[in-house]
Amino acid sequence: MTITSTQPRSALDGTGGAAKSLTLTDLVKTYASRGRESVTAVKGINLAIEAGELVALLGPSGCGKTTTLRMIAGLETVTSGSVRIGDREISQLPAAKRGIGVGFESYALYPPMSIRDNLLYGLKARKVKGAENMVASISRRLEMDDLMELRPAGLSSGQKQRVALARALVRNPPVLLLDEPLSHLDASARQRVRRELKILQREFGYTTIVVTHDQVEALSLADRLAVMDAGVVQQFGTPDEVFDDPANLFVAQFVGEPQINTLRGVTRTDGGRVYVEIGSGAGRLATAATGVADGTRVTVGIRPQDAAIVTASESGIDCTIAYFEHLLEFGLATSTVAGIEEGIVVQTPPQDSYDPEQGVVVTAPPERVYLFDVDSGVRLR
Ligand SMILES: Nc1ncnc2c1ncn2[C@@H]1O[C@H](COP(=O)(O)OP(=O)(O)OP(=O)(O)O)[C@@H](O)[C@H]1O
Ligand SMILES: [Mg+2]
Repeated sequence: MTITSTQPRSALDGTGGAAKSLTLTDLVKTYASRGRESVTAVKGINLAIEAGELVALLGPSGCGKTTTLRMIAGLETVTSGSVRIGDREISQLPAAKRGIGVGFESYALYPPMSIRDNLLYGLKARKVKGAENMVASISRRLEMDDLMELRPAGLSSGQKQRVALARALVRNPPVLLLDEPLSHLDASARQRVRRELKILQREFGYTTIVVTHDQVEALSLADRLAVMDAGVVQQFGTPDEVFDDPANLFVAQFVGEPQINTLRGVTRTDGGRVYVEIGSGAGRLATAATGVADGTRVTVGIRPQDAAIVTASESGIDCTIAYFEHLLEFGLATSTVAGIEEGIVVQTPPQDSYDPEQGVVVTAPPERVYLFDVDSGVRLR
């Protein structure tokens, strides 16, 4: 069943028209307040989001995610730069004229009205036909039928979140912005609502940005990820691109669970191949790098999923098992390397087992041994 069964989407959509691209160019936000130092929360963001695409904006607390969404929505002024929906510059338009649905948790509901009436309010004002059906369908799909006759004041934070999401969805906007839309739901509801959100987004083709702290949520929802830090987009790509080919150490460390191993190393060129020596006399790993000079001090990144314990290898590091954990689907072997402080965590097959003090050799495929500049964290290739 589709929500638009009684109406074509252009009739439900107050601003008219199908999904549109969303383009941010050199977007900057400086918060200036009297008596306090100004804060540049967003430092020149460029993102070209395709029509109907779902982008997850991922990054640590304070990196500027909410500020970015608020500028797009028109809830915050733009210090400089441009926001375009399709070909239209919108950064100077009032929020109500932008045709954007926002699922911000704090979004006001009218206290005297039931949730159902709150959801219907905007649609009825615009004389949208099929509004009742649409609200009923979204309510069912977001598992909030039992909330529909309640007043906003009685809701828990997880319930408020679903109402905010529903309210953004019923507007059927060409662009949808969601700031941590599922953070207050319990684990099982979260998974189901997440799936439903993705299905609705696909069905309607909303061009969507979802802010999340949760990697699994980002990976499961997003066509592409924008990984942000300190007001800058560090990498924009498909989940696989970001995971398999991180642009810098920040992205490599931020995306991936368990976290990537980082070790100090020195490059050695041998027979036309770049190796990296780790620890003192512990061995070396072959890399796929071609443009790194011999003797360069580097930070080496190896994901636990890419590392493997082998009996011997021309490309391997001698390690000692410090700690072994049996988890359900795999094991985690934490090993130490002579001469450095950092250990290496290896994700092992479920049937394998290791003992403390056991000597092992750790290897990884050359293309999965990442090298980063020691100071800037930029990927060296
Ligand atoms: N109204 C404001 N006035 C001054 N500084 C602000 C204002 N709003 C946000 N900031 C600052 O801008 C920076 C980015 O904040 P923002 O809320 O965009 O981060 P965020 O990525 O959404 O973080 P979180 O994950 O914690 O929600 C922070 O340093 C914050 O303190
Ligand atoms: Mg935020």
